[in-house]
Amino acid sequence: MSLLIKNGTVVTAIDEYEGDILVEGEKIAAIGKDLKVEADKVIDAKGMYVMPGGVDQHVHFSFEFNGTKVRGFETSNAAAVGGTTTVIEFVNQVKGKGLIDSIDDYRKENADGIAMVDYSFHGVITDPRPSVFDEIERLPEAGYPTVKLFMAYKGMFFHADDDVIANAMKKAKDVGVTIMVHAENADLIDLLQKECIEKGNVEPYYHAVSRPPMVEVEATERAINIAKLMDAPLYVVHVTTKGAVDAIIRAQNEGLPIYGETCTHYLLLDKSNLAKENFEGAKYVCSPALREKEDRDYLWNSIKNGWLNAVSSDHCGFDWKHQKHMGENDFRNIPNGAPGLENRFGLLWTYGVEEGKITKQQFVDLVSTTPAKNNGLGDCKGHIGVGYDADIVLYDPNQGSTISNETSLQGVDYNSFEGMEQKGKVDKVLLRGQLIVDDGKYIGEKGQGKFIKGKPFGLCYEGQNK
Ligand code: URP
Ligand code: ZN
Ligand code: ZN
Repeated sequence: MSLLIKNGTVVTAIDEYEGDILVEGEKIAAIGKDLKVEADKVIDAKGMYVMPGGVDQHVHFSFEFNGTKVRGFETSNAAAVGGTTTVIEFVNQVKGKGLIDSIDDYRKENADGIAMVDYSFHGVITDPRPSVFDEIERLPEAGYPTVKLFMAYKGMFFHADDDVIANAMKKAKDVGVTIMVHAENADLIDLLQKECIEKGNVEPYYHAVSRPPMVEVEATERAINIAKLMDAPLYVVHVTTKGAVDAIIRAQNEGLPIYGETCTHYLLLDKSNLAKENFEGAKYVCSPALREKEDRDYLWNSIKNGWLNAVSSDHCGFDWKHQKHMGENDFRNIPNGAPGLENRFGLLWTYGVEEGKITKQQFVDLVSTTPAKNNGLGDCKGHIGVGYDADIVLYDPNQGSTISNETSLQGVDYNSFEGMEQKGKVDKVLLRGQLIVDDGKYIGEKGQGKFIKGKPFGLCYEGQNK
């Protein structure tokens, strides 16, 4: 089956040109101006931007918090209509089980045959036995070249102490596995949370009060110091505040392979959302907490200047009704996390490109190209080039919409960005050559997504000795 996409404006992380794209089977076979080829099907992309499908390197389809679970891969068509064709999911190791077995089993049960976009995985060490560290050297072969450790969440089974991070880095660096951290000081959060509760400050807003920027900055600096000590690369997920970005910049200026991402909600929302009445503030309980306007501005500068290299959704679809039920008398019991997979692409385009904060090339780089490279997918995902997977978005810049949960496919009972305007529309999406979104509607099939093995020595290792 061949497909010709004609007359579009192709935008990649490095350029922009008028051109045609020939897709043969699952791959991009040729690119050129006025390609004179026969194809089984032709799509006229006149007036559209033709971009690589988004790669969302930070999603949670399996996260559990105090017994409540998020929506899973059965809602991954939300990614597709939002312009994202690859998601990378964090899988918590099951206590008593190996890391690889935990991901393999999760994958077979919850993703294979269900996912509607392509998918890959990060492991999360929760049971740091010596045999688990030994497993790290086998992660690349299994196709899972990234591991996350939670410095936050004291008392939760997935919390990791500093020695666990150090030991993981020691094993990971020789085999090109990238260690990622959720950087927040768990002890200080615990202390500040208890102080809030003792004073009767139980509402969602106190989630932010008990997680001030300082707890993130301290943990980020500590993680960087551990990486220095272990002579290993590090990736810091969901960076939200100036101090943490500055720590990453300082490390980079020292020549250290330390990188980080931020997320859509940290660029667009702030602490005031947590103060919404009628318990609506609970919808914005995510960790790290939402910050101030100044932090938002600094984050926009950080993605513009390359201090942070990706924008993820940290999609985590807990229902508000559960957040309400569980956390009404104590904000600590509100499941942490917010949905956002469907809107990442459109929001970054609208408030980034359309408002002149980032260029179109930077947009593609942040939503697609660099996340693919970070996770060892850079040879097949995240770029419009011959030989790459034909994961392609046709974006119509002349249309627009207002975000409404009523039309969302995320399957959650609220949308964090409800009522916000989006400029442009994800009109068509191809997943490895198959049309899965047409005129903004999902037309693919359950199970059409495929597991893509990540390769070791992702972007964090570039310039490092292999
Ligand atoms: O609040 C958040 N971010 N929930 C998802 C889990 C995590 O910490 O990434
Ligand atoms: Zn996290
Ligand atoms: Zn997360």
